[in-house]
Amino acid sequence: MQIAIIDLGSQYTQLISRALRALGVRSTILAPDQVNAWLKNNRPKGMILSGGYASVYESNAPQPPTGILDLGTPILGICYGMQWLVSKLNGKICAPYSQKQYGKTQVIFNIDDELSADIPNDKNGNVTWMSHGDSIDQLPKGFLTIAYSATTDRQIVGISNLDKKIWGVMFHPEVTQTEHGQTIFANFLFRICKCCKDWSGLGAIHNIREKAQLLIKGEKAILGFSGGVDSSTVGAAIGPTLGPNLLAICIDAGNLRQDELTEIKHNAQVAGVRLKIVHAQRRFLKALQGITDPQRKRRIFQKLYGQILLTQAEKFGAQWLIQGTLAPDKIESGKVGQSTVIKTHHNTGKISLKQWDPLAEFFKYEIRDLARKLGLPPGISERQPFPGPGLFVRIIDTPVTVEKLQIVRWADKQVTKTLRRHDIYHEISQLVIALTGRSVGVKGDARVYGWTITVRPVITLDFMTTTGYHIPSGIKTEIENALTQHPKIVRVAFDTTSKPPATIELE
Ligand code: XMP
Repeated sequence: MQIAIIDLGSQYTQLISRALRALGVRSTILAPDQVNAWLKNNRPKGMILSGGYASVYESNAPQPPTGILDLGTPILGICYGMQWLVSKLNGKICAPYSQKQYGKTQVIFNIDDELSADIPNDKNGNVTWMSHGDSIDQLPKGFLTIAYSATTDRQIVGISNLDKKIWGVMFHPEVTQTEHGQTIFANFLFRICKCCKDWSGLGAIHNIREKAQLLIKGEKAILGFSGGVDSSTVGAAIGPTLGPNLLAICIDAGNLRQDELTEIKHNAQVAGVRLKIVHAQRRFLKALQGITDPQRKRRIFQKLYGQILLTQAEKFGAQWLIQGTLAPDKIESGKVGQSTVIKTHHNTGKISLKQWDPLAEFFKYEIRDLARKLGLPPGISERQPFPGPGLFVRIIDTPVTVEKLQIVRWADKQVTKTLRRHDIYHEISQLVIALTGRSVGVKGDARVYGWTITVRPVITLDFMTTTGYHIPSGIKTEIENALTQHPKIVRVAFDTTSKPPATIELE
């Protein structure tokens, strides 16, 4: 492996690995305490220290082994990774701000450096995404400032030391909002570390098929199937390898959108997998009765979902459960490296079957690419994601009932229809329609205490960070008029908050 990424607790560590794959280079992610053992058998061409939520001043802040500083292997530190480098090399880090900073910062690259080569020198600065609490007060000896913030305090946000082969950036080149982030990685990989390309999408499909053969051998497996791009891609990738030993299972928990079951059946057929649908609406509604807490809701959903899958596995005689879990699901569920729990995704729980998630290191846009390579049609490869707990997590702060499910399902259909009619649905990465509490309205001269529908369209590539999509005002009015036709809907809200600080789903 050419590049080792040391995970120091960032939500974005997997994004670094993804950014390198996009440039055709594989990498391995290591926890700080795995580094020394790994280095005994491996000689990487470069190392990247991820960001992290800690401050170097905290006693339990993640600590990579300091020996990596003496190997002569090029190192790129990102955010906390850079701060760790500065503090270990006797520079000074400012006392932490009382609050972490998130969001866009304009950055000016001020000198020619191998890391910032080919980045146009915009005098207003380039957009970067920052998420940090500390800043650099004094550089260690021998270091140069290669970038500073275009703010009045001109913070140091990029450093280099050619002799030591150490670079650092305070912003996150791995998030898509950072302009020229890929150029920075390309410079690090190819100019500095002299890496060669060793990753491609077709190679990944080949590897998944080979692994399916090795892992499952003569045994049987069930595939959790939602008809989305992830599970359809897994199905199309391993279906031909496992043949009759694979059965896709779709659980209809009563949480699907309108006409979704028909679409799921169609997508299974296109992906070439045998599908069994389990109708379990009543069981889920009963289990969720009276529940409002989002995490409890997810745990209950996860448990019942797991039980049903287990029963289906027993019926089919399967020893394996295969799922289309992606990297963000694992990261946000706190199942990867050092990252903290944001929300428990339903398909990341424990179940007494052997489990395999062939797509666990990938992000959505990479899966779309694999889907296209597998010949799946745009209806699948470009399909918007929909969370496993479905409409259950789109009924906010009030218990799930059949009536509320019907309202939010109907609202989802109206908004989708309107956006499609205006040919803008495809501009949105994910459309979230949620029922968000009650308020007062007037209908036919009478006071109505009805529901608010929140319309949240977001744009993103990786679903880790997003910006809001602004629906043109004429179409917004059309949506408001359409939704308030429903006797129980009195208000429509449009939510364009970015992630972070908001998440895509409302709970
Ligand atoms: P958030 O809300 O965490 O969403 O910004 C990121 C992506 O994950 C989806 N999501 C889920 N998917 N089970 C899933 O299968 C879940 O519990 C879950 N929660 C969020 C969300 O729709 C978005 O695409």
